[in-house]
Amino acid sequence: MKKIVVLTGAGISAESGLKTFRDADGLWEGHRVEDVATPEAWDRDPEMVLDFYNQRRKQARLAKPNQAHISLAQLDQFFTTVVITQNVDDLHERAGSKKIIHLHGELFKVRSTINAKLIYDWQSDLKIGDFCESGSQLRPHIVWFGEEVPMLIVAASECRDARYCIIVGTSMQVYPAAGLVGFLPKDCEVIYIDPKPTISYELNNIKNLSLIKSKASLGVSNLIEQLIGKRETG
Ligand code: OAD
Repeated sequence: MKKIVVLTGAGISAESGLKTFRDADGLWEGHRVEDVATPEAWDRDPEMVLDFYNQRRKQARLAKPNQAHISLAQLDQFFTTVVITQNVDDLHERAGSKKIIHLHGELFKVRSTINAKLIYDWQSDLKIGDFCESGSQLRPHIVWFGEEVPMLIVAASECRDARYCIIVGTSMQVYPAAGLVGFLPKDCEVIYIDPKPTISYELNNIKNLSLIKSKASLGVSNLIEQLIGKRETG
């Protein structure tokens, strides 16, 4: 089976009611990144950081996958598909995609502050005083600015043999995620779906790049219908 790598960002979940980061009224308009999404913020004011992610978790629990997540999940039947997402929500999982790499962590997991291997599923609010089995405070299982991206190597190696790469709803401004397209083979067809796509340095060097300036639900479902049809007719 041909391989499709899908790279998603906050825009794919916008139609599910979750805010993006950099659009007008985006999450970073209401918050300073340094206050809620860095290790320094955690050291300075863990309550504020917990509150930010508790709100995100509540909102994500109420959200439902939209047509873009659902259409992407259909790809598994026809292609070897890997979804690499910058999103911390679980909408790709709930839509049924099988292979998902979360580059920036997961809202519904928490981990120990002294042993990063102690990771737990978590649905409710996380509070000061919630401890891991070794007795240390738990923190959100999120990659904060300035931290390593442990899944990057896995994601980059998935890109190396892709036939198609579908990029959906990301401003391609946050590295190293945005640099992943640099690992795609030269003949890979890249399709970027976003009402306001941003052509990053790496995208500018892609030979086979098509832009679909549309919201995710419509753009993704049309594209996937075409890709499945093309595959069926050889
Ligand atoms: P951004 O907020 O930077 O970009 C969102 C993108 O979604 C923009 O390009 C919008 O045009 C697009 N968009 C908006 N509505 C859309 C819709 N209905 N359909 C499709 N696209 C739509 O979000 P990301 O690129 O995901 O990291 O941001 C990357 C990272 O920056 C996040 O993972 C987060 C953030 O800081 C961390 O917190 C570590």
